[in-house]
Amino acid sequence: MAIISSKHPSSTPDEPPKRQRQPPPPGDSLLQPTASSEEQEKQEEGIRPQRLADYIGQKELKGILEIAILAAKGRGETLDHLLLYGPPGLGKTTMSLILAAEMGANCKITTAPALERPRDIVGVLMNLSAGDILFIDEIHRLSKMTEELLYPAMEDFRLDITVGKGPTARTRSLKLPPFTLVGATTRVGSLSSPLRDRFGLIQRLRFYELDELTTIVLRTAEILQVAISEDGSQEIARRSRGTPRIANRLLKRVRDYAQVKFASTIDQTIASEALEVYNVDPMGLDWIDRELLKVMIEKFNGKPVGLDTLAAATGEDALTIEDFCEPYLLQIGYLQRTPRGRIATYDARKHLGYVGW
Ligand SMILES: Nc1ncnc2c1ncn2[C@@H]1O[C@H](COP(=O)(O)OP(=O)(O)OP(=O)(O)O)[C@@H](O)[C@H]1O
Ligand SMILES: [Mg+2]
Repeated sequence: MAIISSKHPSSTPDEPPKRQRQPPPPGDSLLQPTASSEEQEKQEEGIRPQRLADYIGQKELKGILEIAILAAKGRGETLDHLLLYGPPGLGKTTMSLILAAEMGANCKITTAPALERPRDIVGVLMNLSAGDILFIDEIHRLSKMTEELLYPAMEDFRLDITVGKGPTARTRSLKLPPFTLVGATTRVGSLSSPLRDRFGLIQRLRFYELDELTTIVLRTAEILQVAISEDGSQEIARRSRGTPRIANRLLKRVRDYAQVKFASTIDQTIASEALEVYNVDPMGLDWIDRELLKVMIEKFNGKPVGLDTLAAATGEDALTIEDFCEPYLLQIGYLQRTPRGRIATYDARKHLGYVGW
């Protein structure tokens, strides 16, 4: 069973971390917001904020959760089930661990593909203790049977198991301790409505603003003991696609560059030189983004293009385009989605040099 259990505040895992993930999409992994390997995830642990006060940005979400925490603590109850959605690397797992820390509870982490067979979820639920937070990543990928076992568990802290087969089959109900389910997904639209309806709180994580990402870079630099100037952190932040995971990853690459160039401090010049070397453009676009926009502009003359046509024309997987490229391109106004297809905007043309300044 793929579960990481972490106890706060000591945060010593009870079991070795075993998490299943989808393989990262092809392309330039430096800018892909997914955590590409367990190794990388382990590296993330040291820089992950531990308390709500250290969690930078997402003001609205923090405000709502602060109220939920205080209210639940005041009543001596568990938090309501929470669904967090948004593009990868924005801090869903981090927030779940923080909620556990703030509630003084355990956080058990698993992912939907690890819960394929009904007995997987039964095992997880039977091992919960009162107050635990159960974090299920990629929750839109749960199997139908697993989902159905979760409904009474979420609603009434009850587990209904069928014993035996055929006409002699009987359903037994087991009482579960009160717990909080935190579900995370990058595709909230793919969640079934009965599952979605059982979450008391449904919250979206937004891309981070430049000043928030700059603060995140400065914070990580301090933890890693890297000397960096304000404008150096800003340069990294600007190219991080609004995503903390990418900001931290770029900082590490810039640190390497600074080290081999004998630069004592990362300033704006060093940061931009380094990021040019790594092929990260000033808006944080990588070659897939640029290729997509180019195809829209050159091959289709700015007319709306369907997702599958775009995938075929660029040789990229449609899911990669939809989940990883488009959210950021839409956010910075380089892409528009119309009922007839995708269009590259004037700003995108300008950025790629198709329009004079
Ligand atoms: N608000 C934040 N403040 C500071 N650092 C953050 C914040 N959010 C995320 N991070 C950093 O970004 C990294 C990625 O965050 P996290 O693993 O929580 O993303 P995620 O949304 O769960 O991604 P995925 O969808 O791929 O599972 C963390 O290691 C953490 O260091
Ligand atoms: Mg995560």
